[in-house]
Amino acid sequence: MPVEIFGDFNFDIIAESSFKEDSVREELINPLLYNLGYSASGLNPILRSKSLAHPVLTVGSSQRKITMIPDYLLMVDSKPAWVLDAKAPIEKIESGQHVEQAYSYAIHPEIRVKLYALCNGREFALFSIENDKYLFYFHLSEIEKYWDKLYELLSPNAFKNQPVYVVPKKSSSFDYASLTPPRRVENIKKQGVARHFGAHPYFTRQAWKVVQEYIKHFSQPNDLILDPFGGSGVTAIEAQVLGRRSVHIDINPLSVFIVKNLSQPVDFNLLASEFSRIKVDFSKNVPTTESQIAEALTKYPYPKDIALPRDADVGFVEELFTPKQLAQLAFLKHLIQTVKDEAVHGSLILMFSGLLNKINLTYHTSSKQTIGQGDSGIFKYYRYRVAPKPIDLDILHYFQSRYDKVLKAKKELKLFVNSDNFSRMTIEKGTATQLQNIENETVDYIYTDPPYGKKIQYLDLSIMWNSWLDLPVTDEDYNLEAIEGGKLNKSKDDYSDLLGQSIEEMFRVLKFNRWMSFVFAHKDPAYWHIIVEAAEKAGFEYMGATSQSNDKVSFKKNQNPYTVLSGQLIINFKKTRNPRTIMKMDIGENITSLVIETIEGVIAHKNGATLEEINDELVMKAIEFGFLDILSQKYSDITPLLNQNFSYDETTKKYHIPQNTKFKSRIDVNLRILYFLKSYLIRMSQQKHDSTFDEIVLHIMPFLKNGITPEEQTILSVLEDIAQRVGEDKWRYREHQQLSLF
Ligand SMILES: C[S@@+](CC[C@H](N)C(=O)[O-])C[C@H]1O[C@@H](n2cnc3c(N)ncnc32)[C@H](O)[C@@H]1O
Repeated sequence: MPVEIFGDFNFDIIAESSFKEDSVREELINPLLYNLGYSASGLNPILRSKSLAHPVLTVGSSQRKITMIPDYLLMVDSKPAWVLDAKAPIEKIESGQHVEQAYSYAIHPEIRVKLYALCNGREFALFSIENDKYLFYFHLSEIEKYWDKLYELLSPNAFKNQPVYVVPKKSSSFDYASLTPPRRVENIKKQGVARHFGAHPYFTRQAWKVVQEYIKHFSQPNDLILDPFGGSGVTAIEAQVLGRRSVHIDINPLSVFIVKNLSQPVDFNLLASEFSRIKVDFSKNVPTTESQIAEALTKYPYPKDIALPRDADVGFVEELFTPKQLAQLAFLKHLIQTVKDEAVHGSLILMFSGLLNKINLTYHTSSKQTIGQGDSGIFKYYRYRVAPKPIDLDILHYFQSRYDKVLKAKKELKLFVNSDNFSRMTIEKGTATQLQNIENETVDYIYTDPPYGKKIQYLDLSIMWNSWLDLPVTDEDYNLEAIEGGKLNKSKDDYSDLLGQSIEEMFRVLKFNRWMSFVFAHKDPAYWHIIVEAAEKAGFEYMGATSQSNDKVSFKKNQNPYTVLSGQLIINFKKTRNPRTIMKMDIGENITSLVIETIEGVIAHKNGATLEEINDELVMKAIEFGFLDILSQKYSDITPLLNQNFSYDETTKKYHIPQNTKFKSRIDVNLRILYFLKSYLIRMSQQKHDSTFDEIVLHIMPFLKNGITPEEQTILSVLEDIAQRVGEDKWRYREHQQLSLF
């Protein structure tokens, strides 16, 4: 396939309203047709906007013929081969009137071709006049995956020597079973899109670009994508953007509320008029004097006697607000409740809910921020922490800014979610531990990011929102919430049981030969052990992990770089009929040497390494070699070991080998080679890649450079013990061998 059909075209700009049909033709269709082998002139020309007389219809008494104009007629050897109609990104091309129109071009007496296609810049759909449903459909941003098939069907060669067109089999070259995990997704910073940023705050949010890449990589359009710990809905929304079906589940009703009201299509004119009406009414009647406030508090409902968690600075939800804030919020909510249209009401109440983040006593701004740019203590400190200097913000001003943000998000989403396809998204309150509405073996891909132990108590921290929004949370929800600590003071065992049950459920609902990507971050290896064991027990095969940093460093991380991890690993599992289990290695007393060895290896390799980089490498090594259990028993926290043996640079936040210090590891050079060699070869075999000797040496030498650098001959002899030659100069890990390092 051509290296880059669309150059460095950025598909995110398609969501902008200025990207219309002419941009689709210019930026996308023209390069696509040239790459297929058509040109403006020559043997296989592109005829633009050819006028055709309508075969039946005429206008007026003069019987003037109506003309029909297909955007592109593709000719092969001077004969019509197929037609293509361009549409604006907002138009629907899978079915409906545009498809019928393109069909009428294809069967026109002056054309008579069997194939016709439509492209709206986002999607490409190819039809045959003999079938109602499209033959072939894909998202243009995924063209690399579909190019070979497209070329086979539509390049000039496909039409040569083919007097009678045979409808191609609707086969796909997409082979789920032989996929390998994607590489780390780079440049995710600063790629904001309105559908995720600013629409409504939530505790954590996956980088949408990463989620998109994983969904594209592991699934095809129309596949069913599940996230049972859905949070702010990045998985479900990106699945919809990519033309997949999705199921979003979360135990927190706030999560379901956000995702539903953000995605649900709405009548923008009605929304604008209802918003203006509420604004006018609010400015006229807003309670401001003491007596008005007192009266409003008796008239309009607000959350009463709802207890906050033990570590909150105040006891009850209403104490998180001044009487004025309470009265004004209650009045605004009352006005929104008068809206009849369900989708408009949903959008307005989503704006109201977003406003709660700023209009409360826990709202903090830092000295560097302008007044309205802060966050509630709930998102900032994961605690109901009343601000030392609470700020009294103007509600109407911030309600307007909520409107602007939600509107921007919904306008961007309008391209991908409309009343026809909204039903492809299932957004449900439920528990990952029992996916009761999902049948066995029906899901094509799972991307999920569960809670990380006791880091965030989701239900406790959502009390303020859930109580204002009248969203019920039951005792059973608290029982099922997969966290440590919280209201029920759950133990590590409770947490691991709940995670284990959810992994079993994910296994049940996933089809065979399909993938689950599990995002996790924790510096205690015990938690990794829980996940990997639960996944193996359920029947998953571990297929490799990728370290993927988040786009934003949390406040907690800035405060305490030693204990909070900002990076995360995405661990990939496949559901296969005969899963290979991870080997277990008997390392006995050598754990410390092995840990030091790994740390020194990463530091040497990266010329200084952060806590995340060290932790990620240790966890990956421990998974690959099956010593997670021992690691978790001995090193629930590696920070003391790091601080004792390595120097820390405050500016770069990296650990280094202290100057003039000898290499710590006591492991023999052959074993050190074996350790890094095996890890590399296992990763390569997961990626189905055979390596040359040069590649191998190039990869493992940096890990070894801190000690006595070994001869290539020594590496070769270790290699011969554990790998087999493939072809002339390639090596492949020898599976099922007896593994023991020491
Ligand atoms: C790390 S967050 C997910 C964030 C999400 N990936 C995003 O990008 O916004 C974890 C979520 O799991 C939810 N959760 C906790 N226990 C659950 C359970 N048993 N079933 C379903 N969801 C649960 C929490 O409410 C929270 O929204």
